[in-house]
Amino acid sequence: MAGRQANPYLRRPPVSLDPDVVLSVRHLSAAYVTRRGAVQAVRDVSFDLRKGESLALIGESGSGKTTLGMAINHLLNPPAKVTAGEVWYQRDGKLLNVLALHGEHLRRFHWQECAVVFQGAQNSFNPVLRIADQFVDTARAHNHENRAAIEKRALELLRIVQLDPERVLRSYPHELSGGMRQRVLLALGMLLQPQVMVMDEPTTALDILTQRVIIDTLRRLKDELNFSMIFISHDLSLAAELADRVATMYAGRIVEYADVRDTFYHPRHPYTLGLLQSMPPLKGNLADLKSIPGSPPDLITLPSGCKFHPRCPFAGPECTEEDPPAFDVGEDHQSACYHWQAVRNPQTEEAVS
Ligand SMILES: Nc1ncnc2c1ncn2[C@@H]1O[C@H](COP(=O)(O)OP(=O)(O)OP(=O)(O)O)[C@@H](O)[C@H]1O
Ligand SMILES: [Mg+2]
Repeated sequence: MAGRQANPYLRRPPVSLDPDVVLSVRHLSAAYVTRRGAVQAVRDVSFDLRKGESLALIGESGSGKTTLGMAINHLLNPPAKVTAGEVWYQRDGKLLNVLALHGEHLRRFHWQECAVVFQGAQNSFNPVLRIADQFVDTARAHNHENRAAIEKRALELLRIVQLDPERVLRSYPHELSGGMRQRVLLALGMLLQPQVMVMDEPTTALDILTQRVIIDTLRRLKDELNFSMIFISHDLSLAAELADRVATMYAGRIVEYADVRDTFYHPRHPYTLGLLQSMPPLKGNLADLKSIPGSPPDLITLPSGCKFHPRCPFAGPECTEEDPPAFDVGEDHQSACYHWQAVRNPQTEEAVS
């Protein structure tokens, strides 16, 4: 029909997903086009997110975590763009091609299917609207008109995120602390009952007690509402507490993908091991703390072979030649390292001879 956007739900999908997969990211690459050249911020990323699962994306600053979170949700704007790959979303057996959504379909997707809480978004409320009106506005924008019903749902959600609902609904954003605003954002994100929530650094920039409250809140949300989460963080302790699975990113690529126990106890990529060893131990000696030597590569002129080889204590000649594929190294555990068999966490495993 001329002039009308096709309903993306009706597209005959060229893929089929397991029934419990809600999001399937396939060979996704994204870059920032700059005068110096293309910054390859996301390189050939693939993974499936399942119903009720929480996935942590970890990695140093600049490894591409935010860009990936945005790319998955079709939120990149110039100079950034997706250069390859697909993202499929599934609800009740229907499939959506996320990167083909535009305009109203895309807006609806972000509230009703896959909500995104951006890095530092606590400051993005409309300052002249009370919190109650922020909820009502959001719902109205999606054709939910009944103010009483919206406020009832807002009260419920604010209670789940452990805020005093009556007081918060009457407040203006500046009357709330950063931690309270972060929790309001989580509640707002849940308003239209999305199946997935993507959160970028949900606890960064908050004090340690407030971080604790947010972590507990997220855990409750996950248990009570059973939605899937992708959360981005360079804080490994957050991943340890909240994630079912962990994807470690280095120079735009997922270099290791494993369940949370394997990530911490049996890492099989030298970069994941390096991150673990640079994290303060819960018990033991602070003197054992090691930082990863060197710094991440320039994403415009990447090194040959494995992008981690210039910093890697395990690197051999083959690592400088070809980027390693993702090897299956255990059950549902992949590592993109030629030397994965030699990688052991000395805190939890015997060294191999
Ligand atoms: N607007 C931009 N123009 C050019 N390059 C950019 C732009 N935004 C980000 N980049 C580059 O893309 C790469 C990935 O950035 P991204 O923000 O995704 O990393 P991150 O892992 O989220 O880092 P952080 O932990 O600091 O939030 C970085 O090298 C960054 O310099
Ligand atoms: Mg970021």
